[in-house]
Amino acid sequence: MKLPELKIGKYTAKVPIIQGGMSIRVSTSSLASAVAECGGIGTIGGVGLSIEELQADIRKAKAMTKGIVSINIMFAVRNFMEMVKASIEAGVDMIATGAGFSRDIFKVGKDAGVPIISIVSSPEFGKLAERSGADAIVVEAKEAGGHLGTDRALRDLFPEVRKVVKKVPLIAAGGISTGRDIAEMIGKFGADGVQMATRFVMTKECDVADAFKQVYLNARQEDIVLIKSPVGLPGRAIRNPFVDRYLGGGEIVDGCSDACLKNCGHEFCIANRLVMARDGDTKDGLFFSGENVWTIKDIPTVRELFDRLVSEAEAYYEPTPVVP
Ligand SMILES: Cc1cc2nc3c(=O)[nH]c(=O)nc-3n(C[C@H](O)[C@H](O)[C@H](O)COP(=O)(O)O)c2cc1C
Repeated sequence: MKLPELKIGKYTAKVPIIQGGMSIRVSTSSLASAVAECGGIGTIGGVGLSIEELQADIRKAKAMTKGIVSINIMFAVRNFMEMVKASIEAGVDMIATGAGFSRDIFKVGKDAGVPIISIVSSPEFGKLAERSGADAIVVEAKEAGGHLGTDRALRDLFPEVRKVVKKVPLIAAGGISTGRDIAEMIGKFGADGVQMATRFVMTKECDVADAFKQVYLNARQEDIVLIKSPVGLPGRAIRNPFVDRYLGGGEIVDGCSDACLKNCGHEFCIANRLVMARDGDTKDGLFFSGENVWTIKDIPTVRELFDRLVSEAEAYYEPTPVVP
């Protein structure tokens, strides 16, 4: 059965798939515009870009597609509101935000006519986001890559948030990598859409170094671990010499050049470690990834991936929500 469209504010995505934002130039205009061209929502990871780079990449993406381009900005960064306003000025279609909760962003979005997507990991924050004016809500569970706000599994957490979020689209995220997962989350769990990130790193259009994709390809299930991030949240990453040293209690001596976070634990410099990973330093970089990375064994184009995901999802999809 055909998958439903995903409506967020004044926008309608023909395919209910959001490509999750991945900062430090993992998801840039190249990936986001390819996803938008396929009818999904493509997201640029905003953190790690200067204001000029951020605006240039949004404009580049918008020139490459007539589809929907979003930006992800973590609330934890010091210049959060400056990035929000700069993104709006550059013509972004939507803004997604997580890693903390901004109450101020909703009015800014409403005034500019730009829908705001809140990323939450509990029913309490789901309710708060809806009440505060979010135009859509992403429920991100423990299977996700990057910073995590919960240790609860998606199929356990999602129904609880579904019960309390009634008015705006609710999107499931964390560990989704196949069409069958998509059909299950939308058909059985009553999600209005899904957000996927790790699966999209493994596409031709994702801009990371080839060595980054090889780290994903070679990852085994036992290599996926949680580390304490300087952001103050756990982060899901792939074991490598840097992670082993850190988890083993070894000393990490990283300088801090630009105080990018509102509150930094200074265990190491997260920005530099993520840049190293992005540029392919397999020993010293920090490779964020979702829990199911080890199941992904190919690197298709975004178009090939979309065709596969949609045809598999539509083969399984039946709207039979378990939660009324
Ligand atoms: C490499 C990587 C970087 C990420 N960076 C961010 C980020 O900057 N902001 C954010 O809100 N989420 C970030 N995420 C989370 C994703 O946007 C997405 O919600 C999550 O990974 C979904 O789970 P999946 O990867 O299993 O599909 C990141 C995920 C990965 C894998």
